[in-house]
Amino acid sequence: MADGHYVANVNSHYSRGNIETAVLDMLTSMGKESGVLTPEELAPIDQFHIGGRDATLALAERAGITASMRILDVGGGLGGPARTLAATYGCTVTVLDLTEAYCQVGAMLTARTGLSDLVTFDNGNALAMPYASGAFDLVWTQHSSMNIEDKGKLYAEIARVTKPKGRLAIQSNIRCPGRATPRSAFYGLQHRFENCSRCLVTGKLFGTT
Ligand SMILES: C[S@@+](CC[C@H](N)C(=O)[O-])C[C@H]1O[C@@H](n2cnc3c(N)ncnc32)[C@H](O)[C@@H]1O
Repeated sequence: MADGHYVANVNSHYSRGNIETAVLDMLTSMGKESGVLTPEELAPIDQFHIGGRDATLALAERAGITASMRILDVGGGLGGPARTLAATYGCTVTVLDLTEAYCQVGAMLTARTGLSDLVTFDNGNALAMPYASGAFDLVWTQHSSMNIEDKGKLYAEIARVTKPKGRLAIQSNIRCPGRATPRSAFYGLQHRFENCSRCLVTGKLFGTT
């Protein structure tokens, strides 16, 4: 599929209707149409994965996040997980998402939480990331990698932008042997990419649910 069609398809799938209006309507119904917001207050509307905010906090604990880390959230949506990580640990998080409307609304919500110094948004494709090699201590992704068909390219890009001995934290749906339907799982892989441009299979699995 040509790149332009791919980008258009993902955008039309994820930005049906007017996202900004929908989010502002939800905030109004919560009595939060103006003023400062906290990541906790936003959790019902900005965590697009199984388990919501609790899953984000559980994965973060397993990933060993610290304040000095520079983190990339691949397919980070409206930025709920990114704001949660920044507010909890004081780390810096870059959200990369292909859906332009999510990046715009995510930046607006981040400003309302006072976290714009720590959380920024880039509208772009995980298959061609706009970052230098080795730019991030940790790459994070929740329920996004399963949406991206070209896993070889995706993980090659993740490997490229992660520092040597950096980490990858994934929440995704996987099909388990003996189970008919996929289940949500947490993976943390301390990767060993130094000599490998594509492969993410080796590493230490530090938790599943
Ligand atoms: C189910 S949402 C998860 C959002 C976020 N990770 C969360 O848990 O709240 C999947 C996200 O992946 C993004 N996405 C899909 N394909 C992408 C790609 N190739 N590059 C970057 N983002 C992509 C979509 O725009 C969408 O925001």
